[in-house]
Order: sequence, then C-alpha cells, then structure tokens
Amino acid sequence: MSPATNLIDPTLIPARGGPPHELFDAWREDDPVHWNPPTDDYESPMPGASMTRGFWVLTRYQDVVDVSRNQAMFSSHEGGPIIWDLEPQQLAMQRANIMGMEPANHMAVKKLVMPTFAPGELAAFHPEIDRVARSIVDSVAGKGECEFVFDVASRLPVYTFCKLLGVPDRLRETVFKLGNLAADTENPARADRANPGPLSLLEIARELAEEKKAKPDDSMMSRLVHAEVDGQRLDDMNIGMFFVTLSIAGHETTRGTAVHFVRLMNEHPDQYELLRGDVDKHLPNAIEEVLRFSPPVVKFRRTAMADTEIGGQQIARGDKIYLSYPAANRDPDMFPDPHRFDITRGNANRHLAFGSGPHFCLGARLARYQLAALLKEIVTRIPDIRPDGELEMLRSIWFNAVIRMPVAFTPET
Ligand code: HEM
Repeated sequence: MSPATNLIDPTLIPARGGPPHELFDAWREDDPVHWNPPTDDYESPMPGASMTRGFWVLTRYQDVVDVSRNQAMFSSHEGGPIIWDLEPQQLAMQRANIMGMEPANHMAVKKLVMPTFAPGELAAFHPEIDRVARSIVDSVAGKGECEFVFDVASRLPVYTFCKLLGVPDRLRETVFKLGNLAADTENPARADRANPGPLSLLEIARELAEEKKAKPDDSMMSRLVHAEVDGQRLDDMNIGMFFVTLSIAGHETTRGTAVHFVRLMNEHPDQYELLRGDVDKHLPNAIEEVLRFSPPVVKFRRTAMADTEIGGQQIARGDKIYLSYPAANRDPDMFPDPHRFDITRGNANRHLAFGSGPHFCLGARLARYQLAALLKEIVTRIPDIRPDGELEMLRSIWFNAVIRMPVAFTPET
C-alpha cells in the first residue's frame, strides 16, 4: 500500500473490502501516533467542510482507550466528533448532538435517556424484539434467496429505534430511508444526494416533538421534550440532533454487524461449524468476536485541549486525533494473534467497537440483544446461508459497511 495513502480517501475501505490493516499494523509497529496530512483531493460530504488540517491517527489499543477516557484533555466538544474541519454552523450542529456536547450537558442528557437503555426497561422490550426477529426471518426463510442487507439486517434496528423514540408506523419507512441517506453522504453517485438526509430527519424530529408536546407518552422522544436540564427545556436542535444520531447510530451499525457476521462465518467455516455445534453457548462471544474483527464504526475524533504528548509524540493544543477502532481491535498487545478470527477468544468482549469512556455507546446492550435475537433465528432456521453474488460496500471513511449482499440458502419448509 502506498505510503501516501490518506484515510480521508472514501474509496479506501470499499476498494480493499474493509479497513487497511496492513497499513495500521505497520504504523502501530513503527509510527503508532501517525500523522495523516491535510488534503484537498477529496470532497467533503458537508458542503463547506474541508481537510485543511491534518490529524494524528492512533492505532494502539491503550492509546485509543486513554484518549477516549480523558475528555478534559481530548474533547469531543471542541471540534466535534467528526474529522472534517467544519464551518461554524456545522460545528454548532455537531455540538448539539449528544456525541459532541460539552461534558456537563452531556452528562445531563445522558441521564435523561439512560433509563431507556438500562437492563430493566430493555428486558421488558425483549419479547417484542424476539417476535420481530422471528417475523423478519419468516418473511425470507421460504424463498431460498434474498438481499440480506435490506431484506433482513436493517429491519430490526430500524423497528427498534423507531419504537424507542415513539416514531409512528406511518413515518417508519421514511425514517429508514433518510437514515440510510445520511450514512451514505460520501457517495457522489447517489441520485438523491441533493436531498440531505440529516436535514429531513431534523424536520421529522420537529414534527414528532410537537406531537409529543401535545400528547406525552412513555417514549424517549416524549421524555426529551418534557425534560428539563438546569431548569431549562432542551432546545429543538438538541432534540433534533439526538433523533438524527439514533437514526444513523442505531441502525447502520447494528445492521452492519449482522452482515459482517454472515460474511465472516462463511469465510471461516470451521468457526461456523463450532458455533452451530452449540449455538446458545457460542453465539454471544461469536458476536463479540465479529465486533472486534470487523467493527462497523471506523473512527471518531477528539481535539487536544492543551499541548500534550501521546506515546512520546508531541501533540499541540487544537490538534485533531483520529481514534481507529479497527486498528485498536487488532493490537497484538491486547489480542494475541489478532488477525485470527476465533469465536472462543477469551477477551473478545474487550474490543473497542462501542468506543470507551464517557461517550461509550449508549445502545451497546440493545445492539447486543438485537444481534443475538436475529442471528439465532438465522443460524438455526437457514443455517446454510451464504453470499451469492457480488458484495457492494459503502463508500465511506466512517463506516465499514456492506450495502448489498445477495444470499442463498436452502428454503425452510
Ligand atoms: C453494533 C452496533 C453499534 C456500534 C458498533 C456502535 C458504536 C458506537 C461508538 C463507537 C460510539 C462512541 C462515540 C464516541 O466515543 O465518540 C457510540 C456512541 C453512541 N451510540 Fe452506538 N453503536 C451501536 C449501536 C447503537 C444503537 C443500537 C444505539 C441506539 C439505539 C446507539 C446509540 C449511540 C449513542 C446515543 C451514542 C452516543 C453516546 C454518548 O455520546 O454518550 N448505538 N456508538
């Protein structure tokens, strides 16, 4: 791979079918805090945003953990959680998002929504998740083939976050389409690119917020609309951006993991055989190993709040830092023989696919439950499921995602 490879190249991940591990391994060995230079070779997904400043890429597990846990020194708020250099209005939107809030507001909003993701409330939701998982597999099992990403993998996450947020059935399909669009902004070939997903999602959020103001219910959206932080209601932008975040974060990622699971089990038939020998015993750790081996989120950003040092490298105040989850997950100091896919790996669940520290994924428990429910149905009912045709990957510097995977299997009778 060329030493000039720039992580901002949106064709990098699709062209090689996943993150550039050869490059990450080389950097981790010789240059673990690697300087990715600025570039104007690639168009930003947000008009006006640029890559006029380069950034430091962290490839070591411990560095990613240490930086993620230290918000005072490495902020998600200062420059926002995404790597582009943003215009003031774009930065304001990112800072209104839970992932980019300043620490005090972040904690307050997190407290508001945490009960929805806590074990008690989630457990009450499990029977419904199981039922929907079953009905999704019912809808394809007799056919012998389908397009796995949209016919199967995306259905459960979309249903789930719509249910949690209180999105009425009539809007579910629209939210589903707009969430896809918002994650696919780096694809210039999209005919509908002129219709930016996040803005339309904001309009839907506004409509929904008005409904919940007039008619409160026990949904998360209703809680957000009626809650007060320091005696003040959350503003429309905070509520809207939370909705946008969940439409992307709660969907693309869980869907991507289900797709990687099927793909990886086919690439590693010995591991699949082991799993099928005792599904209940092996499935939870197999999901963790899929998340370690192929994390769907490739990176988030932090900004240094003072001159400092990471692994002996001087970092200046204001420098951008790229947390590479795929690289950290293949650090041999943490995961011996890291490029081996092993569903019995003892510490697979120490992966960083869900991040670490104060911004650790709020939906991790929910994602794990959904994945287990859906994948158990698949593995037990259509066990010989296999890719059958060309895979298409998302053009993205942010997601490691397959967007088209035709599959075939023996139809269920
Ligand atoms: C396999 C599935 C998932 C993966 C790999 C994933 C990954 C991540 C990562 C890496 C972060 C950390 C961001 C940072 O440190 O800046 C994050 C945060 C977040 N995720 Fe997830 N996510 C998944 C599923 C979900 C689901 C199902 C939901 C909700 C329905 C969700 C909601 C969130 C929220 C709200 C945050 C922000 C938390 C905060 O800033 O405090 N995620 N996720």
